[in-house]
Amino acid sequence: MNYEVKDLDLADGGARRIEWDARQMPVLQSIRRRFEQEKPFNGMRIAVCLHISTKTANLVLTVQAGGADVTVCASNPLSTQDDVAASLVAHHGVSIYAINGEDEEVYKRHLHTVLDTNPVLLMDDGADLTATAHIEYRDLLPKIMGGTEETTTGVIRMQAMEAKGDLAFPVVAVNESDTKHLFDNRFGTGQSALDGIIRATNTLIAGKTLVVCGFGWCGRGVASRARGLGAEVVVTEVNPVQALEAVMEGYRVLPMAEAAKVGEIFVTVTGNRHAISGEHLGAMQDGAILANAGHFDVEIDLVALKEMAVDVQPMRPYVEEYSLDDGRRFYVLGEGRLVNLVAGEGHPAGVMDLSFANQALAAEYIVSHHEELENRVHTLPRDIDEGIARLKLEAMDIEIDALTGDQEQYLASWR
Ligand SMILES: NC(=O)c1ccc[n+]([C@@H]2O[C@H](COP(=O)([O-])OP(=O)(O)OC[C@H]3O[C@@H](n4cnc5c(N)ncnc54)[C@H](O)[C@@H]3O)[C@@H](O)[C@H]2O)c1
Repeated sequence: MNYEVKDLDLADGGARRIEWDARQMPVLQSIRRRFEQEKPFNGMRIAVCLHISTKTANLVLTVQAGGADVTVCASNPLSTQDDVAASLVAHHGVSIYAINGEDEEVYKRHLHTVLDTNPVLLMDDGADLTATAHIEYRDLLPKIMGGTEETTTGVIRMQAMEAKGDLAFPVVAVNESDTKHLFDNRFGTGQSALDGIIRATNTLIAGKTLVVCGFGWCGRGVASRARGLGAEVVVTEVNPVQALEAVMEGYRVLPMAEAAKVGEIFVTVTGNRHAISGEHLGAMQDGAILANAGHFDVEIDLVALKEMAVDVQPMRPYVEEYSLDDGRRFYVLGEGRLVNLVAGEGHPAGVMDLSFANQALAAEYIVSHHEELENRVHTLPRDIDEGIARLKLEAMDIEIDALTGDQEQYLASWR
């Protein structure tokens, strides 16, 4: 077994935290028990590129229980939980290449190391692994039966590959399942982005003006949780429907140039670059807190901010103070990377239970259907998506009604 982790002595602490989260992931545990019996991945080499967290550890153990030989790397250089990585190596014999704080060069080397194992299936978050395979591992592509993609940004990248005719194998866009984006992106990011901001700054949210840039699934969640904590929430958008929805939810909607002047805390969740540009930064008030919860660290123009600053100092863990020559100071959290994963622990396990149930079942779906799937971005079939919701409801001891035969007939009849 090969690995590159920070310190194997951290393994026991990691094991306890993985076990803690396992108890909040009943759907994934039930899939793991079934995989143990059925071994859908028997002898297959699977490459996993996800945030290395307690929840991901439970997914990796589920896939491993299904008979896979799993090699893992991080999907972000700053989100790795080193104790979790250590436990996966020491207690479960997983080959993992991830160290919190690894630089860009090591991050890329780890992607290569994972692809060097000749995997037949890729599980990705943000599409870095899949893109690297397509650019640098052309010989490997025909041997890959398919991939899965966790997040909105990765799905957009893979759809761009499909549109150009470049996608060399079928991909299941896990993010597109209702049981993923309606819960993980909304309730997960809603809670954990605020959690990350609070852990990093210990700032009082009540009474603050908090600007949410982007009112998609994540933005809806962040806005609702910030309002729940007493913030006055301002939303910025480029999509008129989304903007209108925000207005009718009771949020103030402003162009970013105006929001910049009134905001005290900013959270970007657009999946786009420079949602906060240098010009916007120039209009901000002294003390502005800048956080990003979108996938890549490009949403806030940090290059422009560095050019504007006369001094940059660490203030607290995950908080850097940028001083401008006019005396204003801005506070950037987690170097502009996913604040919930860098300054916090990512989403709670209770919601990742749904996302990673989708990942595990998407991998199984690829294995059993790859021969008939075109090289496109697919969604999981509806019955699998609904099946995950049913299992979660069961685990929560919640019963629902079923359509009667008469009702089914009524709904099916146009007369
Ligand atoms: N932090 C996390 O743990 C986490 C979890 C899930 C998704 N994500 C990431 O968060 C990002 C958003 O995901 P989503 O599912 O909400 O996507 P989404 O497509 O549902 O929403 C993005 C919204 O941003 C808007 N937007 C785009 N450019 C903008 C701009 N310049 N100014 C204002 N609004 C703009 C779009 O119109 C859209 O409504 C993605 O990068 C995704 O990968 C992060």
